[in-house]
Amino acid sequence: MKFGYFDDQNREYVITQPDTPLPWINYLGCEAYFGIISNTAGGYSFYRDARLRRITRYRYNNVPLDFGGRYVYLRDDESKEFWSPSWQPTRHDLKDYTCRHGMGYTVIGSEYAGIEAHTRYFVPLDENLEIWQLTVTNHRAAKASISAFANIEFCLWDAQDDATNFQRNFNTGQVEVEDGVIYHKTEYRERRNHFAYFACSQPGAGFDTQREAFLGRNRGWDKPATVEAGQLTNSIAHGWSPIGAHQVKLELEPGETRQIVFVLGYHENPVDQKFDPPGSQTINKKLVKPVIAKYLDAKEADAAFERLRQYWVRTLGVFQVNTPDIHTNRMVNIWNAYQCMATFNMSRSASFYESGIGRGLGFRDSNQDLLGFVHMVPSRARERILDLAATQLPTGGAYHQYQPLTKRGNNDIGGGFNDDPHWLIVGVSAYLKETGNWSILDEPVPYDNEPGSEKPLYDHLQRSFRYTLERLGPHGLPLIGRADWNDCLNLNCFSDTPGQSFQTTTNKDGKVAESVFIAGLFVLAGHEIAAIAQHRGLATEAASYLAEVAKMEQVISEHGWDGEWFLRAYNDFGGKIGSNECAEGKIYIESNGFCTLAGIGVEDGKAAKALAAVAEHLATKHGIVVQQPAYTRYYIEMGEISSYPPGYKENAGIFCHVNPWVMIGETRLGHGDLAHDYYSRINPSAREEISDLHRCEPYVYAQMIAGKDAPTFGEAKNSWLTGTAAWNYYAIVQWILGIRTALDGLEIAPVIPKSWPGFTATRTFRGVVYNITIERKGEGNHIALAVDGKPIEGNIVAPPADGRKEVSVKGILS
Ligand code: GLC
Ligand code: GLC
Repeated sequence: MKFGYFDDQNREYVITQPDTPLPWINYLGCEAYFGIISNTAGGYSFYRDARLRRITRYRYNNVPLDFGGRYVYLRDDESKEFWSPSWQPTRHDLKDYTCRHGMGYTVIGSEYAGIEAHTRYFVPLDENLEIWQLTVTNHRAAKASISAFANIEFCLWDAQDDATNFQRNFNTGQVEVEDGVIYHKTEYRERRNHFAYFACSQPGAGFDTQREAFLGRNRGWDKPATVEAGQLTNSIAHGWSPIGAHQVKLELEPGETRQIVFVLGYHENPVDQKFDPPGSQTINKKLVKPVIAKYLDAKEADAAFERLRQYWVRTLGVFQVNTPDIHTNRMVNIWNAYQCMATFNMSRSASFYESGIGRGLGFRDSNQDLLGFVHMVPSRARERILDLAATQLPTGGAYHQYQPLTKRGNNDIGGGFNDDPHWLIVGVSAYLKETGNWSILDEPVPYDNEPGSEKPLYDHLQRSFRYTLERLGPHGLPLIGRADWNDCLNLNCFSDTPGQSFQTTTNKDGKVAESVFIAGLFVLAGHEIAAIAQHRGLATEAASYLAEVAKMEQVISEHGWDGEWFLRAYNDFGGKIGSNECAEGKIYIESNGFCTLAGIGVEDGKAAKALAAVAEHLATKHGIVVQQPAYTRYYIEMGEISSYPPGYKENAGIFCHVNPWVMIGETRLGHGDLAHDYYSRINPSAREEISDLHRCEPYVYAQMIAGKDAPTFGEAKNSWLTGTAAWNYYAIVQWILGIRTALDGLEIAPVIPKSWPGFTATRTFRGVVYNITIERKGEGNHIALAVDGKPIEGNIVAPPADGRKEVSVKGILS
């Protein structure tokens, strides 16, 4: 069953039923000011950091699930009936309800009682504000008198404190209202120089800033007393819960359409110009007023929308493809790329599943995310890399997370996740391959943000690699530390007390438990850093990395191979995990996916064996599960993984993030059919028809789909912010379609399904547009390339020597 449809032409998903199984959301904002918006206008906004600069309030895990948002109410001032065109909060039976989630904007609307209303929500480029354009049309034969109300609830900035510290917060709320603009200035009197505002383009018929005055006592958002009565009360908030509510009266002739623009924004004043007049307690509004005035003008708002549209056309235009499979095209050209940008901006901080207060930007996560977004925003990727590297520790280890606002490592979580450092090598390598911009390696970057500790970025990569060499276990495999990619395989934790964090509790000295997954990652990262060293003319150093890689491959072969597949790990007792010897958890996806992705065992047949075992034991029709058999009880020596019921999350759930490792592994064996088949099983667009089972948005990946051991097999959870976005994008684009960035040019090596006659693609790469046509003449993966009609050797297309800005590449597969 579907709840809407893809409008590929407009790059939109159109939801036609408001009661989707879960809130289906979208993101607003590209750079600093962000919002989350659901298909019924739920969600919130923040400036840079969803915890420390939360602008509007939202209550996670509410009933109903999604409540609090950017709500509009319309009231027929004659019949006195009122409703919400976005369905929530009043939930009327609307005609023609649609929610169009597009690239950086959402339009929600419907018709009720002959009155059509749509609101377009978006954040203009380069501004710290959001625009709501509300359009109301009278389809009645008679004149209509309508009151339009728009409403938000302010958060008192720190979202964590806002949700917990009521003895203080019920007293601090402050607002100002001037020229019809509502200013939220809680804590502005003391240590903040920022405030929020909510403005309206039409002369107001009233406003409210105190929640209780707006709602009335003992009422909720579905039935505000003021909306019911048809008149706001001009309340001024003193403490309690500041809100922003505007009322506009519209007299609409039959057929007449009117537009009202609302602007919700964030502004910072220079510290020495906070107050006007100086010495008073009144906000200095001189700097913000022109901005507000500009965007309340519908023409300016339209122009800003057009600039946003162009931005996305440009951003997505870097890579476009046309294959025989619509789901591939749609995800690669539109939604998967768009989701990669969301993970770039949010990492894992703010979604409808990540509350924005728990986690900052993950070191491992953000480095991997680079694989999916570096081609769209290379200069911002560079900044991200430098920020990440600055949270690396002098040991080469890394803070697991950092706060986007302060860019400081998060002490609560600390470091000791032994895979972390290698992801920096993977991320930097992706950047170099994309841009060819080698100067980044010479950028001075501090350790632990300590001034004076700056070393070239390259030094950070060297320490990342050494980190593992200094932490090898009894078998010569890398010690796992607190966890590797699988945050829930906690082999040094042994937690027996409720409430202990599996990630930060460490009861063992960590000298025994080893990870075959990190060994695979070490091999991959080792190849990358060796190629980088070679490129920098450091041949001896490059050779030393390759020697360590060869040694590690030998160790994997001796101690990381279980006979039919790669082992997963050794526990603190030196016992095997992910072995046929185990009662549960005999085979895991991570080590098998990553080792084959890294090319381990491709020559000696181990990779083929391992992936055949994955197909036999782990693959399901909804994707590939993490391990089998699922853990049916808690194992203290394994930690969080066995805390999940069978089939969920890391305990045999389909963790979509790691499925692409197997897809890439299959391409390394030349299996295009199976690789694309795996790709399609978790492709959200290909799952659209089963939206009632899948439940999450059909336009973006979810972190997890419940595995075959779960009662809800096939149900997705935790959509949007997941490494799945980058890895699936990378797998389909660079390995299945095979349009791959390399240090020396663009490599073309498709491993596509046998039934495909070929495909075409355009790729802008280092300033040159490559028009690529792949034609299948035989069933294999051998490719013969011609550039501008001239056959070339090998499969790497080097940048045109003569400075041409557009070239055609023709590939014949046989
Ligand atoms: C979450 C984390 C990621 C981790 C994965 C597996 O997605 O963000 O860092 O690798 O879970 O535990
Ligand atoms: C939980 C989740 C895991 C995530 C981790 C992050 O353990 O199950 O997916 O990576 O939290 O801290």
